[in-house]
Amino acid sequence: MVDYRPLQGELRALALAKNAIIIAHNYQRPEVQDAADFTGDSLELSRTAAATDAGIILFCGVHFMAETAHILSPDKKVLIAEIRAGCPMADMISADDMRRLKEEHPGALVVAYVNTSAAVKAETDICCTSANAAKVVANIPAGREIIFIPDRNLALYVEKQTGRKLIKWEGFCPTHEYITAADIARARQEHPDAVVIAHPECLPGVQEMADSLQSTSGMIRFAKSSPAHEFIIATELGLNHRLAKENPDKKFYSPTRKAICPNMKMTTLPKAVQTLKEERYEIRLPEEIRRKALAAVEAMVRYS
Ligand code: 13P
Ligand code: SF4
Repeated sequence: MVDYRPLQGELRALALAKNAIIIAHNYQRPEVQDAADFTGDSLELSRTAAATDAGIILFCGVHFMAETAHILSPDKKVLIAEIRAGCPMADMISADDMRRLKEEHPGALVVAYVNTSAAVKAETDICCTSANAAKVVANIPAGREIIFIPDRNLALYVEKQTGRKLIKWEGFCPTHEYITAADIARARQEHPDAVVIAHPECLPGVQEMADSLQSTSGMIRFAKSSPAHEFIIATELGLNHRLAKENPDKKFYSPTRKAICPNMKMTTLPKAVQTLKEERYEIRLPEEIRRKALAAVEAMVRYS
């Protein structure tokens, strides 16, 4: 067993000395989550980044998340702990693709999942996360065409929740698509009393078998307030750390060991320490892109 306490102590001391806040996504390595000031889902992280009065934000997550923090808080120094940590789903649509799509559907409102680049957000009317996507779409006046990008699975979930027809994009999360309906069926057989909670990035067959579809923090809240004692969790394996820590009397099972996001796992404690020490890997955007993306991101943060 590695003793992470010395490095965690070093990171905390640096944060104190530099007036920095450390925020981490729910999929980060346990030892990174445990050293952070705040751990949450994409929406909570954006809200935290917007509200902080720290001078430096050290972001432990993937690139689009740190970009979103910079869009909301341009006066803060936003550092990403590991510069190579991207999101393959976000890379599945470009700003050029967006412009073409808008040309094909003039008059349509564009809703973009926050898992997109800033250049794509700049072409967007309103952003959303998995926590508020259905709410965002439900509030769009009936009859207005809606482009929803890039996640085809989240789009399907939103269509079911709202009864609206969406113009979709064929993007997806490779990590969530590793989880199959057969994995859920097997897990259910092994744990017949367990409640199945899935992330809306999961495949349609997995969504259909779930008792509840939730964002990552939504899963934690659901498990806490549920009278059930056993849960099958269909999302990236990193979430199990908080689930187990915050619900010591409950049991959590993973339908497959394959659901690991390699990008989320690139951030390690030594890298986080080094990044904050050197104040390296600062995320900055051309002001025109940031400004264009801001309204869409601010609207997302308001839909909590
Ligand atoms: P959440 O917003 O639910 O935390 O999801 C982010 C993400 O990247 C899921 O793959
Ligand atoms: Fe992107 Fe999927 Fe990783 Fe989330 S889990 S950051 S959507 S690749």
